[in-house]
Amino acid sequence: MSVVRLPRSESAESIVDLIGGTPLIRLGKLEPRPGVEIWAKAEFCNPGGSVKDRAALQMIKDGVASGALGRDKIIIDSTSGNTGVAYSMVGAALGYRVALVMPANVSAARKQIAAAYGTEIIFSSELEGSDGAIRLVRELVAANPEKYFYPDQYSNESNPRAHYLGTGREVWDQTGGRVTHFVAGIGTTGTIMGTGRRLKEYSSRVQIVAVEPDDALHGLEGLKHLPSSLVPAIWHPEGIVDRRLPLGTDEAWDMAERVAREEGLFVGHSAGASVAGAVRIAREIPEGERACIVTLLPDRGDRYFTPLKWEKQYEW
Ligand SMILES: Cc1ncc(COP(=O)(O)O)c(C=O)c1O
Repeated sequence: MSVVRLPRSESAESIVDLIGGTPLIRLGKLEPRPGVEIWAKAEFCNPGGSVKDRAALQMIKDGVASGALGRDKIIIDSTSGNTGVAYSMVGAALGYRVALVMPANVSAARKQIAAAYGTEIIFSSELEGSDGAIRLVRELVAANPEKYFYPDQYSNESNPRAHYLGTGREVWDQTGGRVTHFVAGIGTTGTIMGTGRRLKEYSSRVQIVAVEPDDALHGLEGLKHLPSSLVPAIWHPEGIVDRRLPLGTDEAWDMAERVAREEGLFVGHSAGASVAGAVRIAREIPEGERACIVTLLPDRGDRYFTPLKWEKQYEW
């Protein structure tokens, strides 16, 4: 068993100081043969429970620095998932009001998590799903631009910047510069863009692999099937992403189950997809060659206990 930790302070001035610096855990049982290592960045160790803490904190910090976010403004976005939890936690800790727009029919658990932090929940039509929530946010912001700060993680460069400044540097340090591949799922694409850009700067030989659902209809919350989606404005893969790896929902779900049972890591389905992608890459490494493959576990499996029936199309 191996784990590589970054120095973490024993005490913190604020919960936000504990965002990032997550452990890198070896997935030894999934390695196909000696010399081909698979490691996973445990992003569920962030205090809000997911990788999204990094992006939310960076977008809020950069918003404050640029003057776009002042004490009089309300942070608003359309998400009930990991990003919503992250905004709520960071907003509460730093003393900013947060409002989240979500379709009226999201699960009670999602509403309760956000409400627990004091976040205001604004309901959009349950008939219009996530698109209706996005439309309503845009209407609210357009009608009251001085009232709201709308980070919009799909087009906000602070989202990949969080990973450029944090995740990418951490992966390089934790592997002692041995990383040969970085494999991660794509949703907003912030993780792969920022981590990939940083790792390519360290060494252009590091291969960056983007895992995406192989079909428009999929069960991998948090991930996007780009060919059938609105392409996020922060997605600039040229010179950074070496390969896109389409992966089926079943393979990802099966891998999530395997990682729980064999490695004791109960992770979400998008983590299952990333690990399945890393295992595929590991199996392709030619005999006699060594590799240090790093993947990323965005959140834990217990985020998905509540029924997802109505939330399949919801943006995370
Ligand atoms: C569970 C989960 N997995 C993966 C992702 C994708 O990460 P990114 O948005 O950085 O591409 C997200 C974020 O949206 C997520 O919530």
